[in-house]
Amino acid sequence: MTSPQPHNESHVSRSVSPSSRFGFGVDVGGSSLKAAVVDLHSGEFHGERLEVPTPQPATPDAIAEAVAQLTRQAAWSGPVGIALPSVIVRNIARTAANIDATWVGTDVVEPFSTVLGHHDVTVLNDADAAGLAEVSFGSPEAQRGSALFLTFGTGIGSALLANGQLFANSELGHLLIDDTEAEHLASSAVRTREGLSYADWAKRVETVLCEYERLLNPDVIIVGGGVSENSDQWVPLLNVNTPVVVAKLLNRAGIVGAAKAGAGHVAGSPHR
Ligand code: BGC
Repeated sequence: MTSPQPHNESHVSRSVSPSSRFGFGVDVGGSSLKAAVVDLHSGEFHGERLEVPTPQPATPDAIAEAVAQLTRQAAWSGPVGIALPSVIVRNIARTAANIDATWVGTDVVEPFSTVLGHHDVTVLNDADAAGLAEVSFGSPEAQRGSALFLTFGTGIGSALLANGQLFANSELGHLLIDDTEAEHLASSAVRTREGLSYADWAKRVETVLCEYERLLNPDVIIVGGGVSENSDQWVPLLNVNTPVVVAKLLNRAGIVGAAKAGAGHVAGSPHR
């Protein structure tokens, strides 16, 4: 593993000593790419969060160029972890949600290696990255027993955790519930698009969680994603048997988990 290098002080306010204490994570979303230098001991951002719009079409080369731009902004030359909304099996994208369909069937590391050159690159599913971050820096419930970690955003992402170990690439947002995909019923984007109140949306989330509960019987369900910042408006309304806890890292989790995976800090990671 290469060591992270110091940063350009005009972009990152605090100085970074070159050690494996820091990583760089990028979370690729449908509307923007978000990135930060992450302190891998605390899970905190070291300096500011950087953001660039997702290029359209969001092809492998265009996303790779946007990631290169972010590393330049941070003056980062160490390992890079990238969270993609894709199923990634042995570095091949099997799906592409909210990014260009040309990702499917391609090697996800290759376009980044081409533009990032000397950087060591790791790519993993965005919800898996967020779930791993929660294991390391979030709710203690993520570390023990069976935990179903969910992100509510443009889609519904899922990470299945057993005693803090990841079962990678679960895609529970696509589970059919009465012929409708769970994420078409109850993602955060659907709430916004349909102008649903939190109470009405919570009923839909409850339907989805009941189905997950029926099939998986986890010890706990951990809910994350941006909408969890308003968790007091919907989590208490959920009537499910499984305890529901709110993720601690909220929408920082994808970046933090990507940085951690990028730095090789994920034990037994299937992604490298
Ligand atoms: C994708 C998942 C992704 C989730 C959250 C879903 O539509 O299929 O791979 O984790 O959205 O971005």
